[in-house]
Amino acid sequence: MITKIAENIYCVGAVDWNVRNFHGYTYTTARGTTYNAYLIIDEKIALVDTVLPSFTEMLLNNIREIIDPSKIDYLIANHAEVDHAGAIPAVLEIAKNAKLVCSPRGKSSIGRLYGEHFNFMTVKTGDELKLGKKTLAFVEAPMLHWPDSMFTYVKEDKLLLSNDAFGQHIASSERFDDEYDPCITMDEAAKYYANILLPLSDFVIKKLEEVTKMGIEIKMIAPSHGIIWRKEPGKIINAYAKWASGEALPGILPEVLIVYESMWGNTEKSARAILDGLTMGGVRANLYGLPQNDRTEVIKDLMSAKGLIVGSSTHNEDILLNLAAFLDDVKGLKPIKKIASSFGTYGWSPVQAKNSLNAKLKTTGMEIVESDLFFKWSPDAAELQKCVEFGKSFAAKIK
Ligand code: FEO
Repeated sequence: MITKIAENIYCVGAVDWNVRNFHGYTYTTARGTTYNAYLIIDEKIALVDTVLPSFTEMLLNNIREIIDPSKIDYLIANHAEVDHAGAIPAVLEIAKNAKLVCSPRGKSSIGRLYGEHFNFMTVKTGDELKLGKKTLAFVEAPMLHWPDSMFTYVKEDKLLLSNDAFGQHIASSERFDDEYDPCITMDEAAKYYANILLPLSDFVIKKLEEVTKMGIEIKMIAPSHGIIWRKEPGKIINAYAKWASGEALPGILPEVLIVYESMWGNTEKSARAILDGLTMGGVRANLYGLPQNDRTEVIKDLMSAKGLIVGSSTHNEDILLNLAAFLDDVKGLKPIKKIASSFGTYGWSPVQAKNSLNAKLKTTGMEIVESDLFFKWSPDAAELQKCVEFGKSFAAKIK
């Protein structure tokens, strides 16, 4: 499907309606995704980014509806990851004289991933490429989210082709933010930020400051996944600034997450009692049992929360595996400005789960609130009351 997004600029990528996992199963994509590629027609013709290799024919057929792909003069590769660069060899097999434009680090990544035989033209921040009436300006964006990442800015249209940044995994027939549910778009953008960009927030803050200093006026942001920000590009820029600084967007989001894994429901009893205490203490809190809940979604909610309380049954002198994997994920994503605590149950190994949970929480960098909520077999009435009281005191800390 082709969509004209500006005068002589077309979205010619592909919609992947059925993909449900991304990045090697580390990210769930319940709404599918798109691989947006942009064709710019001028005296010289440029294609900005490509698609996942399995969608190559779709990309080429979309291009053929506008021009003969052999006439492409420049293939701009903003990023070397396979979902955007995977069709480079096929496109350049047809557009034999095209130059492959990328950052110096892009040349290195593309060389390793797809071959070193292309007609490379490396660009850095501030470089421009005149196509005719339109001018492309390049802004390197290292670690947003790979070292090679780059933005391409079409000066005359004030259009930022931002690649992964500002994207969302949404498959849809609609291309623009004013055509699609704004809550879903922002929710998927938050999930994308939390699961991909969160540990790179310092780079995001610096890049936003740099782009502001450069005085680049942005009328539209066209990312390489999902919906194009045409109505309110400032909305997603402001959201990135907030997420990068550890702040939540205004809205009704949980302030505390209780994430637990319970073998026979006894740890869950404590989880529910802590939840009661948090609610009595006046904070919004949600329970997330694992593995029933989608880890990618829990991470999204964690980004906007102020507190995390984790609980596990004891198993083989340690915590249960799904919770362990969740905490390893959190460690890598480095959420900031959060406090955390723990709870659990045991049969005959009284300290192992507690020690393991607290050791893992320590690696996340969160401020730890010590608790005494590890109970033998199953919490009794007095112990459940202790959980309630703990919930209230945790709520007071959050407030
Ligand atoms: Fe970093 Fe959408 O690829």
